[in-house]
Amino acid sequence: MYAFEFAISVVLAVKSAAASTAATTIWFDSENIIPIGNGRLGASLLGRFPDEMVVLNEDHIWSGSINDPNNKNCPGALPQVRDYIWSVSLFPGCFKSIDMHALRVELAVRADDLANAQDLVSESCMATPLSQQEFQTAGNLTLSYPSAEISNFNHSLDLTTALATTTYESNGVQFTRMSFASHPDNVIVMRFTASSGGMVEFDAGLVTPMDSPNVSTSDNILALTAKGQAKSGLPGSINFVVQAEITVAGPTAQLSASDDHVSVSGADEALLLIAIDTNYVRYDDLSGNPQSKVDAALSAARGKSWDELLNNHLNDYQPLFNRVQITLGSPSSSTFLPTDQRKVFPEGADADPEMFSLFAQWGRYLVISSSRNTEPPNLQGIWNAATDPAWGSKYTLNINLQMNSWLSEPLNIAETLNPLWNMLTELAERGKATAAEEYNIQRGWVAHHNTGIWRDSAPIDGAQFGMWPLAPAWLMQNVWEHWAFDPSLTDWVRGVAYPMMKSLCEFYLDFLVVAPSDVEPNQYLVTNPSMSPEFTIRDNLALTYGSTIDTALLKDLFNHTVGFASLLGVDSDFAKNLTSTMARLLPFRIGSLGQIQEYARDYDANGPFSHVSQLYPLFPGAQIDPRLNSTLSDAAQVTLQLRGDAADGWPTAWRVNLYARLLDGEKAYYLMQRLIQLYTYGNLWATSLVYQIDGNFGGANAVAEMILQSHNGEIHLLPAIPAAWAQGSVSGFRARGGFTVDIAWSDGGLTTANITSTSGTAARVRYGGNAIDLVLMKGDSHALNASDFDE
Ligand SMILES: *[C@@H]1O[C@H](CO)[C@@H](O)[C@H](O)[C@H]1NC(C)=O
Ligand SMILES: *[C@@H]1O[C@H](CO)[C@@H](O)[C@H](O)[C@H]1NC(C)=O
Ligand SMILES: *[C@@H]1O[C@H](CO)[C@@H](O)[C@H](O)[C@H]1NC(C)=O
Ligand SMILES: *[C@@H]1O[C@H](CO)[C@@H](O)[C@H](O)[C@H]1NC(C)=O
Ligand SMILES: *[C@@H]1O[C@H](CO)[C@@H](O)[C@H](O)[C@H]1NC(C)=O
Ligand SMILES: *[C@@H]1O[C@H](CO)[C@@H](O)[C@H](O)[C@H]1NC(C)=O
Ligand SMILES: *[C@@H]1O[C@H](CO)[C@@H](O)[C@H](O)[C@H]1NC(C)=O
Ligand SMILES: *[C@@H]1O[C@H](CO)[C@@H](O)[C@H](O)[C@H]1NC(C)=O
Repeated sequence: MYAFEFAISVVLAVKSAAASTAATTIWFDSENIIPIGNGRLGASLLGRFPDEMVVLNEDHIWSGSINDPNNKNCPGALPQVRDYIWSVSLFPGCFKSIDMHALRVELAVRADDLANAQDLVSESCMATPLSQQEFQTAGNLTLSYPSAEISNFNHSLDLTTALATTTYESNGVQFTRMSFASHPDNVIVMRFTASSGGMVEFDAGLVTPMDSPNVSTSDNILALTAKGQAKSGLPGSINFVVQAEITVAGPTAQLSASDDHVSVSGADEALLLIAIDTNYVRYDDLSGNPQSKVDAALSAARGKSWDELLNNHLNDYQPLFNRVQITLGSPSSSTFLPTDQRKVFPEGADADPEMFSLFAQWGRYLVISSSRNTEPPNLQGIWNAATDPAWGSKYTLNINLQMNSWLSEPLNIAETLNPLWNMLTELAERGKATAAEEYNIQRGWVAHHNTGIWRDSAPIDGAQFGMWPLAPAWLMQNVWEHWAFDPSLTDWVRGVAYPMMKSLCEFYLDFLVVAPSDVEPNQYLVTNPSMSPEFTIRDNLALTYGSTIDTALLKDLFNHTVGFASLLGVDSDFAKNLTSTMARLLPFRIGSLGQIQEYARDYDANGPFSHVSQLYPLFPGAQIDPRLNSTLSDAAQVTLQLRGDAADGWPTAWRVNLYARLLDGEKAYYLMQRLIQLYTYGNLWATSLVYQIDGNFGGANAVAEMILQSHNGEIHLLPAIPAAWAQGSVSGFRARGGFTVDIAWSDGGLTTANITSTSGTAARVRYGGNAIDLVLMKGDSHALNASDFDE
């Protein structure tokens, strides 16, 4: 090799190592939030100097207490509600020739009945209290350093280690603080060091806005006890303890406690361990002793060295995180800027390609950090500084919790969904009473558009948002996907998935009503009342019958339940009932503008809006697929155009996934750029006016969806690759049917793909216009290249 070639290859190797670092590093040269978490404990490191704040969270610190929210007047009101809705929906003539003008006149005449239906639901069906309880902060750890001029401030997070590092220089001394949240050791760990001996000095304190606070200190311990707040008339009932323990090293090290501070000075090094716990055991059991749980965590961690704690953490974290690699191209001039400057795409340029790898890996990091074996991530993950966060930082079940769960399957961290399965199992327990008391349906369970740690399942907030009993059917789509990606999970299907799906089907079998023949000549089985999440037909009125998402969710739920019944060899009569019921549901309807109708009726309400619920069947569902029926997928595209490019995080993330399913890589890329540039903060947390983590998770999934799809029986390589991602490689992606997939491409075309079977099923693999069939035994791999797909 000639010398200059060698030099070039060294430069390229260095650049590509640096680029891969750029795909897994977040850093700032000024204040910005770096979140860490072990699934249950969260900490936001603000990166301030000299007064640093570390916001602390524990995923069971919520306001209020359990109560019975169900409104027992609802069953008496529902027949009248249905009649009002039928009467609005009556109109002369046949569907095939809808006269929009006549319909509008008709609707104006009937407007009162639409309002009457909703008013009656408001009066008779809504929960007590009307609002749900909220996720609340534990409080802040305050760290005060001696005031000084500092330089070279660097506040960073390495996603490959989940280790946050803050460094700066002052008077020739380099100061370093490293922090991680350990899942195996159940504590948050911080280490403070300096490049010269005896220089580590700070005061640590705890503050909280929560009820009944009591901060105390002794020797090297800071302790805080407090309570979840009362909200909406329900008393606070979560008791929690935060305890921080500091040890110091070095010949001149000193540690002293005042009333509410512990002070460190003259140390070579200080180590701080934080444990937090509550009395929460289950939604109906608050008998836990937070002090003894905290004591247990600290006594197990105490005495372990930094290296030992860090190794435990890496041995736990890296096997999850390192399963997936994503490389999307060469560095650009902005690749090595601080993240907050890099993500605005300086000088009107496109994002540097590794920005998208970073965004996907950041999503994976945030999931691993907020969802292990207690609660799933809520609207803010587990990073909330407030007592009254936006939307209560709850679990919203009409897209958001579902979106939070998408990426875990294709991006190979499926075990992070275990808390979701637990939550759904408990929601199904609480939802039995809601089915009986709100609907007089004596079998099955139901829930509505929000829940929390009390597993509340009744309709909340307002009839036009809350009266949506289809929310749990959407969550069952996530349940189905868990098996679809790993068909070896038969025991899990038998023990966890099938019981809650079957029971939910029972509720809907009784909830569905036959539409009168003067409303639907074919007398379909429909939902009534029904809505399309958060969308109002007009004048704040939302309730109607037969929304498209309701029907699509029921088709999926019934079909998937039939699939599981047959997998398990059980309930064949019940499955037959589901199949025959499925055939009586409304078909998709294409409206006057060529769009997928949002409701059974083609209401004239198709302007820009964040939710695109009528496109559930395109994504995350797969009933609409350009490969299967382009009439429907073209209509889905019209719907997307009518709804417009959204002006928020999660709606944009959803649209990227939808365009990827329409195989439109350029539009997906355009929206992916908008998501990162316009709808994230400097630290890449997604926003929807406020910080809301679903845009991160939905956006990470969208990157995967552009590179690999696997619905409707085909593994599709590079389905929606934009020109800007001309070259790249990924490894460790998962595909439905039980496969892991590695793909490399260049000049926009496939170089190699390697498909490994995890459960011994056949694979049909598509690239471009052709698909081939592979037979793989469990554990077998098959390497493919573009010529395998030549005709
Ligand atoms: C800050 O730290 C990160 C992580 O180590 C590193 O990638 C980045 O280059 C550093 N920034 C500067 C200006 O040194
Ligand atoms: C904790 O820190 C956050 C972020 O700076 C701040 O919003 C909040 O008010 C602080 N809480 C207390 C009790 O100081
Ligand atoms: C606060 O906590 C300390 C230490 O546990 C305890 O001695 C004290 O009684 C507590 N004060 C109140 C008001 O509960
Ligand atoms: C039912 O599910 C199976 C398996 O996923 C799928 O192949 C089939 O198309 C679905 N049928 C309907 C009617 O959605
Ligand atoms: C099937 O549906 C019929 C009619 O609704 C009902 O009588 C029967 O009990 C159902 N069978 C099962 C197994 O659910
Ligand atoms: C595609 O969907 C449309 C609208 O539902 C339907 O009329 C048509 O028969 C479908 N085409 C195929 C090939 O299934
Ligand atoms: C394909 O992937 C499997 C599993 O990771 C690996 O063992 C095998 O070496 C890979 N094959 C090729 C050709 O890269
Ligand atoms: C693609 O794979 C085939 C074997 O399936 C091999 O013969 C061919 O050389 C490969 N082509 C390239 C460009 O690697």
